[in-house]
Amino acid sequence: MTAAATRPLNRLVHAGWGQLARVYDFAPVQRVMYRPPQDEIIARLAVHGARRVADVGCGTGILATRIRNDLRVDEVYGFDAAAGMLRKARARTDRVLWRQRPAEDLGLPDGALDAVVSTHAFPFFNHEPAVAEFRRVLRPGGLLAMVVFNPDGPLTTPMQPALVRGAAYWPTPEEMRTLLEGNGFEVIEQRRVRRPLFGAALVRDVVTVARRR
Ligand SMILES: C[S@@+](CC[C@H](N)C(=O)[O-])C[C@H]1O[C@@H](n2cnc3c(N)ncnc32)[C@H](O)[C@@H]1O
Repeated sequence: MTAAATRPLNRLVHAGWGQLARVYDFAPVQRVMYRPPQDEIIARLAVHGARRVADVGCGTGILATRIRNDLRVDEVYGFDAAAGMLRKARARTDRVLWRQRPAEDLGLPDGALDAVVSTHAFPFFNHEPAVAEFRRVLRPGGLLAMVVFNPDGPLTTPMQPALVRGAAYWPTPEEMRTLLEGNGFEVIEQRRVRRPLFGAALVRDVVTVARRR
């Protein structure tokens, strides 16, 4: 892996995710927690018509594999920093280009992609370097679609003390909008992820969709 400008504790974080990879695909958790945001991303990609797509922080590769198989796009990359996650992803399919690299340094040429997507991984990235890297690898007009938990609640906001920020920070929808608009993107949509009733009561996450200027 490259020495990119990751968060100070990122090595620890993705080592942890690498271990969790063993249980990550537990079907009920996947169905309730991760499937709805993936559905949102697939829908946005279908409308945009992207042919070259990267899923950054792809985990065990479920979304990247769906993009490859359901949308039949030309080229799909799955990037993750965790070797354990990518082991699972590689076992899933060889039709995705799996890469063990950090979000902050994807190693692709400028303008190589039509879309960058990411679900529940962005908080672990170093926000400004990662957004700059997404902008660099996207062509003008390219799509950025990301899902993160909304931390804007009475219980969740105090859970982000300075100490934790070395590992992760969950931006509020307003912070995400400001970050993207200030770094070469136009935000075109931002709203809560649609979830069935039970899931909606448990999980509050937000999809932000932006266009590279
Ligand atoms: C909660 S998992 C989400 C996985 C997948 N996107 C999903 O929705 O199931 C977060 C992922 O982000 C990855 N990650 C953390 N920091 C990263 C970084 N700097 N660059 C790339 N991936 C990173 C972790 O290894 C982990 O696989």
